[in-house]
Amino acid sequence: MAGEQVNVNEFQELAREALPKMHYDFYAGGAEDQHTLKENVEAFRRITIQPRILVDVSRIDLSTSVLGHNISAPIMIAPTSLHKLAHPEGEVATARAAAACKTIMTLSFTSSCTMEEVSSSCNAVRFFQLYVYKRRDIATVLVQRAEKNGYKALVLTADRPRLGRKEADIRNKMVAPRLKTLEGLLSIDPAFDNGSNLEGDAKEIMDASLSWKDIEWLRSITNMPILIKGILTREDAIKAAEVGVAGIVVSNHGGRQLDYTPATITVLEEEGKFLFSLMEECGEEQTSSRHWPLVHKLSLLEGLLSMDWQQRGNLG
Ligand SMILES: Cc1cc2nc3c(=O)[nH]c(=O)nc-3n(C[C@H](O)[C@H](O)[C@H](O)COP(=O)(O)O)c2cc1C
Repeated sequence: MAGEQVNVNEFQELAREALPKMHYDFYAGGAEDQHTLKENVEAFRRITIQPRILVDVSRIDLSTSVLGHNISAPIMIAPTSLHKLAHPEGEVATARAAAACKTIMTLSFTSSCTMEEVSSSCNAVRFFQLYVYKRRDIATVLVQRAEKNGYKALVLTADRPRLGRKEADIRNKMVAPRLKTLEGLLSIDPAFDNGSNLEGDAKEIMDASLSWKDIEWLRSITNMPILIKGILTREDAIKAAEVGVAGIVVSNHGGRQLDYTPATITVLEEEGKFLFSLMEECGEEQTSSRHWPLVHKLSLLEGLLSMDWQQRGNLG
């Protein structure tokens, strides 16, 4: 592609040209008919801005804080798997970018680099994202390793009891590389995104029985604040408040899991006020160790991230 890339769509095009088709499709694809994937983009386009003029904007401060960590703007790095498919430095480079931008990176459970490599690479504030396998001892080991290595929160991704059916990955026979993080913990290769030949293994590995009662178990193995990622309904937001987690991440997993769910930003538009009042109620009732007010901020952040990733063609 000629010339310098000046916007994210052009970076997406560059990636399409540079990456093997199998890997590009892995990053960019959504589940089933990709309705939710498209809707994530379209719903953002439908939102217009009502600008106010003649306001002094010579000094703008977009900084905020999440779980007590200051960030320069309400934009964080969402957990995304296998960065080394796109760049030899993988998540270490992403963490450095997070540090440079003064934001928080959530390291994916399915990262190419180990959590130790990432934590020793720079001083970015990091959260750790967890998938729960049937072998619960693996979660225990990883969560405790994350805590020991200075990760500041645990993000439980709860919208993947099984893999979303990504047709491009099936066609391409996408094979996920071995995860260094799991070395010595798991003898077989799990499938992480519906690789046709690996899906069977993944079904064996993921714990589809994970439920609300397991939040108590998670709390028993860590002192990190826990966030639940993948909430799309007010009913589940209420349950999350009831079990007393530190916050929620409103998300449809970038349209990679259950297709025909609403766009994340649409949920935020429709439920934002409700979530905000829930947050205020819980903030009053709960102790300071349970920072429920995060719900609002993270929701907003996730909405922004959705735009970011989708418009960048899901690179990550
Ligand atoms: C290539 C790619 C890999 C992803 N890997 C993960 C992952 O490992 N864990 C996870 O919780 N979410 C993963 N996600 C989902 C993102 O964290 C995020 O939820 C999504 O990109 C934005 O959509 P949302 O606004 O609906 O959350 C991945 C997304 C993409 C595009």
